[in-house]
Amino acid sequence: MIDQDKKSSLKTFEKRVFSGVQPTGGLTLGNYLGAVKRFVEMQSKEYKTIYCVVDQHAITAWQNPTELKQNTRQIAAFFIAAGIDPNSSILFNQSAVAEHAQLAWVFNCVARMGWMQRMTQFKDKAGKNAQNAALGLFAYPALMAADILLYHATHVPVGDDQKQHLELTRDIAIKFNHDYDIDFFPVTEPVIGGTASRVMSLRDGTKKMSKSDPSDLSRINMSDDADTIFLKFKKARTDAEALPSEIDGLKDRPEAENLVTIYSALSEQSMDKTLQEVGGKQFSEFKPILAECAVEILSPISREMTRLMQNADEIDSILASGAKRAREIASPILEKTYDIVGMLKPK
Ligand code: AMP
Ligand code: TRP
Repeated sequence: MIDQDKKSSLKTFEKRVFSGVQPTGGLTLGNYLGAVKRFVEMQSKEYKTIYCVVDQHAITAWQNPTELKQNTRQIAAFFIAAGIDPNSSILFNQSAVAEHAQLAWVFNCVARMGWMQRMTQFKDKAGKNAQNAALGLFAYPALMAADILLYHATHVPVGDDQKQHLELTRDIAIKFNHDYDIDFFPVTEPVIGGTASRVMSLRDGTKKMSKSDPSDLSRINMSDDADTIFLKFKKARTDAEALPSEIDGLKDRPEAENLVTIYSALSEQSMDKTLQEVGGKQFSEFKPILAECAVEILSPISREMTRLMQNADEIDSILASGAKRAREIASPILEKTYDIVGMLKPK
């Protein structure tokens, strides 16, 4: 019989947003447009927003310990410089709230080997020698599910590459609820969409823009200065035709589509509107317009990041108070989870 007490203890989930970025060094325009810009947009009365620097995910590949600490501060600085207000949003680093790892263990026991084996990010990151990959890299998506469900988050803004992990998070929530016959974890909505959920490499329009690409010309880094941004867009690969004035004209032109997407996302206008503006122009004319727009938006962010990074204490105290607020939400949810699962609580 269903335990009525368990059922009646359920609450309706308020709209709660959670997302995270790994402090693995190097931030790109892809991270900004696909993720952090959207984090900023979701800060409103309608949502409670929680943003996390996921340092425990970072160590699924070895990190230099001194650099990891700096990179953690750097992501926090990026969040703040991009417009996340640490007073209205909760901003913290994952390892500071032990409940993440604790819930992840429970989820390791809910998720199935077969589910994890299907994860394409694991296959990509483990490469040919999967036997030599860290166990943590394999379990990575269960920790990610814990990050999200520990706050009963209902909405998760991420880039397109995280879609499969979010589906797994839903599967974990559904299986947990089913196994324990309780409606406890929400089935989270991915918030992917938006113009730039997948920003592509400037050297190859079929590959994702990534901090790990060996060619620095393939990406715009958040730390690039104006000259570098102009140079990279100038050298960006394109085809020989002029820009079309309608979306259909971008078909099979991945590099052209990518540059138009980036410009639309930066200038906050639809692709249609952008093409009305730039249709008919040659790339030689369009690229400086795009570069100028990028500099106008990215320069103030990178300047503010540099300023914040010179004040490590300020960042550390923002993260510390965020962790405290995060724990206030996380702790009762972990406690309830333990109770549901049958862990005996010391009196
Ligand atoms: P990561 O740096 O891999 O931790 O990614 C942080 C966030 O940025 C995630 O939500 C990713 O989906 C997003 N992201 C990373 N690269 C891109 C890209 N090229 N286009 C769109 N989103 C991206
Ligand atoms: N896996 C995400 C990435 O690589 C980072 C991440 C960890 C995350 N935990 C999360 C994103 C929870 C959203 C919600 O980009």
